[in-house]
Amino acid sequence: MSGKKEIVMSGIRPTGFLHLGNYFGAIRNYVRMQEDFDCYFMVADLHSLTTHPDTKQLKANVHRVLAENIACGLDPDKVALYCQSHVYETSELYLYLNMLAYKGELEKTTTFKDKVRQNPENVNAGLLTYPVLQAADIILHRAKYVPVGKDQEQHLEMARNYVNRFNHRYGKVFPEPLAFNYGSNLVKVPSLDGTGKMSKSENQNATLYLADEDDVIRKKVMKAKTDAGPAEPNTPKPDYIENIFDLMRLVSSEEVIGKFEQDYNSCAIRYGDMKKQLAEDMVNFISPIRNKVNAILNDEKYLRLVMEQGAEKARISAKATMLLVREVMGLNYF
Ligand code: TRP
Repeated sequence: MSGKKEIVMSGIRPTGFLHLGNYFGAIRNYVRMQEDFDCYFMVADLHSLTTHPDTKQLKANVHRVLAENIACGLDPDKVALYCQSHVYETSELYLYLNMLAYKGELEKTTTFKDKVRQNPENVNAGLLTYPVLQAADIILHRAKYVPVGKDQEQHLEMARNYVNRFNHRYGKVFPEPLAFNYGSNLVKVPSLDGTGKMSKSENQNATLYLADEDDVIRKKVMKAKTDAGPAEPNTPKPDYIENIFDLMRLVSSEEVIGKFEQDYNSCAIRYGDMKKQLAEDMVNFISPIRNKVNAILNDEKYLRLVMEQGAEKARISAKATMLLVREVMGLNYF
């Protein structure tokens, strides 16, 4: 950490198996940010306990998420890549922030209400205070920017509330954290069945995972919805055809895209050929990442080193913040 650049922090849920939407929506941003900012990227293993108390899969999931992010270009030498549970200061700050978080506002949080609906038999206090833990993650490094998607904006707003309450009550320690993106939310990663975006919870056969084998990628792409082709030159494209072009724009060359645009506009397009081309370009994009992930997963010693090195960097920043926090809170009695 240079200590000179602006500070960025984000958390990644260890749910494993990233897909193309995660890559173009999130990871690619992280990779770009590592050059311009001091970045803290954290695997949110403690957060996962709020909904997944069974920890049998946790180690494998944490390893996979680390391996996938590194294979996509995150450099553990440039950023602090660490596990939440390795930095105990997080839990201490979480405790203090809990006294500044009100039950009423926590109960109104959209993600809380969703999770209660999905899992009515396990409405625990950790789930209720999930946004407080997230705020602790962020402000522990006094981060200014948080690269997250739309679904996390409410949590960020809550983090800003806790920051303001803390600063007002005890003294100015924390900057207000802001959502950050490079405008790449605008990159569309449509699903292969012509409906919506690629996502984990929707149709798995319409989502390309970074772990998919070559023949799985080909099969999924070849199943994408098409039709008999346009009957007249320069017809506007139906959504499901535009989606195939959008996917090509992510992984194919300008030349290839131009050729199929021209074929479409002159009614000469053969969707079978187009999908074959897209499948090969997807295979060429995904397979080197997949192979790298597998190589990293087979090297536990390396993964351990990454986690130790990341935790060490995170602890330096965390310890400095907590000294200030205890000081302004009046928790120093010596
Ligand atoms: N809640 C985030 C999600 O569901 C994960 C997360 C945990 C996070 N801690 C964070 C994101 C801190 C940004 C900053 O994706």
